Amino acid sequence: MDRRSFLTLSGATLMGAALSGTAGVFAASGKAPHDLKIQTARYKFLDGFTENMVSLSKDAPPPVIRMRQGEPFAANVTNTLAEATAMHWHGIRLPNKMDGVPYLTQWPIQQGETWHYAYTSKDAGTYWYHPHCMTMDQIARGLTGVLIVDERRDPDFDAETILNLRDFRIGEDGQFLAFSSPRRASRAGTLGTVMTANWEQNPVYRHPPGAIVRLRVAATDTTRIYRLALQGGAGRVLAADGHPLRAPLSWPSPERPIVLAPGQRLDIALLMPADEAQDVVLTHMAASGAKPLATFRSNGTPVKRTLGDIPDLPANEVPDADPASAKIIELVFGWSPDGLKPNNGICGTLGYTFWSINRKPWPGDAVEGIRPVAELRLGQSYVLRMRNESPNAHPIHLHGLVFRPIRSNKLKRASNWTDTIVLTKNETADVLLVADNPGDWAFHCHVIEHQKTGLAGYIRVT
Ligand code: C2O
Ligand code: CU
Ligand code: CU
Repeated sequence: MDRRSFLTLSGATLMGAALSGTAGVFAASGKAPHDLKIQTARYKFLDGFTENMVSLSKDAPPPVIRMRQGEPFAANVTNTLAEATAMHWHGIRLPNKMDGVPYLTQWPIQQGETWHYAYTSKDAGTYWYHPHCMTMDQIARGLTGVLIVDERRDPDFDAETILNLRDFRIGEDGQFLAFSSPRRASRAGTLGTVMTANWEQNPVYRHPPGAIVRLRVAATDTTRIYRLALQGGAGRVLAADGHPLRAPLSWPSPERPIVLAPGQRLDIALLMPADEAQDVVLTHMAASGAKPLATFRSNGTPVKRTLGDIPDLPANEVPDADPASAKIIELVFGWSPDGLKPNNGICGTLGYTFWSINRKPWPGDAVEGIRPVAELRLGQSYVLRMRNESPNAHPIHLHGLVFRPIRSNKLKRASNWTDTIVLTKNETADVLLVADNPGDWAFHCHVIEHQKTGLAGYIRVT
């Protein structure tokens, strides 16, 4: 079905499309699809319950979803909310029609409807899922979860901790505050008030002394750009944004924290202290001081491993681009032309337009303004020359493809495969990719207020 049909068909027809789905794919996979029910929830962060949250579980965080590299995965996503939704599988290189972007790849999922997703991930690693309709509202209310694609063969770790890092914006009465304001949307975005890991404040995870723990960390906040450090431990950073490193990243020490922006992930091998009852603390190095996010406490029968026992992760098969033949595509992220009113679709608007890509604003997950920002030929190599002409940082995310930075006018960057790169103030970065996945791929800033006020578009690969 092409985009014009998407735009002109009626609601009744939409419903039919949602129900016909991909039953054949399920049959072929031989595994029952996951039933994911988007529902309201309540949760205790402070003294009382925070109401009006959104999750996939009853009064609990959205679950970790696991699949195995190269094996089919299927999910029925049912929407019980009054507002529309759609589910996106961030970082997975999947077929375009499974990507979960309303109007670009599917219809919004209306109240009472179920949408079927089915795909097989060729990459292993740490990914995440979130809605791509009513994105500001539903992400802020809790609907973000970690998605894990296990390696074909399990690497030899002693233990694993999965951390979904995010804030909630709640007031002293425990209820949600406004998620956005125009003033902040036009600058760095609106921060939450309670920092959490797996919806808990500084939870403690116990692992045997001397064990090698795989930490999987996903930054799923709407706004916060973390500067992560591990205090009191040793180990190695193994992967970023799902992909094992091609070029090393420094250990996230308080002196050299790692920037982890909304959308990004890290896999870290942590060697627990050899003695009992020692803490390693994952902290956010905020301007106002170090904030603990999660604690790992040595506890139990010692395992006695050394740094040399840390397993290597097998590389994902990403076709490398050819820099010599790569065409350069210029992309400018900046202010939007004055006086543009956003259109008010059923996927929500913040009511303002502040940002743009190549001077064209697009409200992220709504229906209009739909020329691609770039058209790529399938199989061809490209350099995306991305220029941030604003003083704010922008974690720029591309669906369906991965790229690696090769040049920057400001930073020395490790050239690792990623789906999300943080452009710093006035930075121009070149990233290299092969357009090897056909479709219309959403391309936007992952600070959701920026995305929803114009810093969004899509890239077409044919
Ligand atoms: Cu995390 Cu458009 O996505
Ligand atoms: Cu994505
Ligand atoms: Cu931004």
